[in-house]
Amino acid sequence: MADAGRGGARDTPGVKEARDLVAGARTTVVLTGAGMSAEAGVPTFRGEDGLWKSHRPEELATPEAFRRDPVLVWSWYAWRQRRIAECAPHEGHRALARYTLEHPGSLLATQNVDGLHDRALAEVRGRGPDAGAPIPDRARPRTLHGSIFRLRCSSCSHRQAAEEPVSMGDDPGDLPTCPRCGSLLRPDVVWFGEPLDVAVLEEVFGHARAADVCLVVGTSAVVHPAASVPVATLEGGGAIVEVNPDETPLSRHARVSLRGKAAEVLPGIVD
Ligand code: OAD
Ligand code: ZN
Repeated sequence: MADAGRGGARDTPGVKEARDLVAGARTTVVLTGAGMSAEAGVPTFRGEDGLWKSHRPEELATPEAFRRDPVLVWSWYAWRQRRIAECAPHEGHRALARYTLEHPGSLLATQNVDGLHDRALAEVRGRGPDAGAPIPDRARPRTLHGSIFRLRCSSCSHRQAAEEPVSMGDDPGDLPTCPRCGSLLRPDVVWFGEPLDVAVLEEVFGHARAADVCLVVGTSAVVHPAASVPVATLEGGGAIVEVNPDETPLSRHARVSLRGKAAEVLPGIVD
């Protein structure tokens, strides 16, 4: 089944051109969004079944919302943690993991907080000839919007991993607290109105400006600064390759705009 699907995807218009562009590039930047994980079962934000159809971002994904009603915000994030924990990386995540491991000139930046790129890297490395060797830092995804499986303190600089989904009831007293200062812990994600990590941004934009190709996968390309990453590549003289079943504001700037799904077409482009 999977092979037949892949064989078919190789015939998707533009796949060969995209593959040639990526293969001929010395430096590449890959930008992924929620559509990257859609086939893994993680809900996207916009679109018909998107999270923002049934939830208001300002009630769930802002620091004000957390101050107003931390139980509500945490119950939504705990639900997403449980949902994501049931999902697994797909063939597209694995193809990108192999690609970034094998290409020192590549850098993957993701808006996703689901950790699926990291899990794919661990899977691919665990199976390959270098099984057990540490994953080089340059191959790790740059998480522009943080991680839902990390927690950080709402007051001090403490951060910690959350290997398990947070368990909680309806009482604010049940919420996780900081071992250092006792304040509430929150998901280590970027909320609307909050700045992104400056060092990560500088690294990703520096790389994007120098890149021959920016491969953009599964993002509606409307949330900045992430959506400006491909623009930096264009301004630096590079080309955009887009993978998305729908048109986006980037499509008309793309050298190749593939109307396909990430899991189906990525192996044919980067493997
Ligand atoms: P969106 O939900 O806005 O966009 C998902 C995109 O993926 C759409 O353009 C879909 O057409 C496309 N798509 C759907 N299925 C796909 C598939 N199988 N393969 C490839 N593409 C597919 O998600 P983002 O662009 O990631 O931020 O949203 C950006 C940010 O807005 C998120 O990081 C989040 C959100 O609010 C914060 O929470 C700060
Ligand atoms: Zn603290």
